[in-house]
Amino acid sequence: MKPFPEHGAEPRLISMRHDALILFVLVGLIVLSSSVSLFAHQVKAKHEPEAAATPKVGPDGLIEAEGVVWVRANCTPCHSANLILQFRGDAHRWLHLIRWMQAKQGLWALAPDVEKAVVDYLATNYGDREGSLRRKPLKELPPPLPAKQ
Ligand code: HEC
Repeated sequence: MKPFPEHGAEPRLISMRHDALILFVLVGLIVLSSSVSLFAHQVKAKHEPEAAATPKVGPDGLIEAEGVVWVRANCTPCHSANLILQFRGDAHRWLHLIRWMQAKQGLWALAPDVEKAVVDYLATNYGDREGSLRRKPLKELPPPLPAKQ
């Protein structure tokens, strides 16, 4: 029988080094991934206030804000809230629309404080604003092309 080679332990040493290397890489990966997720958390936290600023919307699409109960009670029995969502205007315009519906569409009279709550809600949450999809009033359109000569 041959005696153990003198440097028979060497292969084991190499494999131990390998183990250490794999362990090192693994620990590195764990540390890296946890720091990445920590970073993601921080990014999310940074953006959270913005998310909180976007208004809460009910199942009917109406923004949940002061006065919405009066709007739900008086403005959605006849038609869906979508009609409200596609309309925009200041308090004057909304009141004008309410008067039209009262005159032509069977909308009932609203108690003055209820009417104020409704108009305030509409003008605040669905007021005129830049970027609205409504076209500009006609008088603001460019003048027509001159006639051909
Ligand atoms: C009694 C029924 C009734 C009630 C209540 C009612 N509406 Fe209407 N509304 C109508 C009818 C009818 C129309 C016309 C629908 C159409 O054009 O097909 C209309 C149209 C509208 C439009 C579309 C106008 C346009 O020119 O595009 C908006 C906006 C609107 N209503 C908002 C409201 C708001 C705000 C309230 C609550 C204050 C309300 N409605 C309550 C009957 C009602």
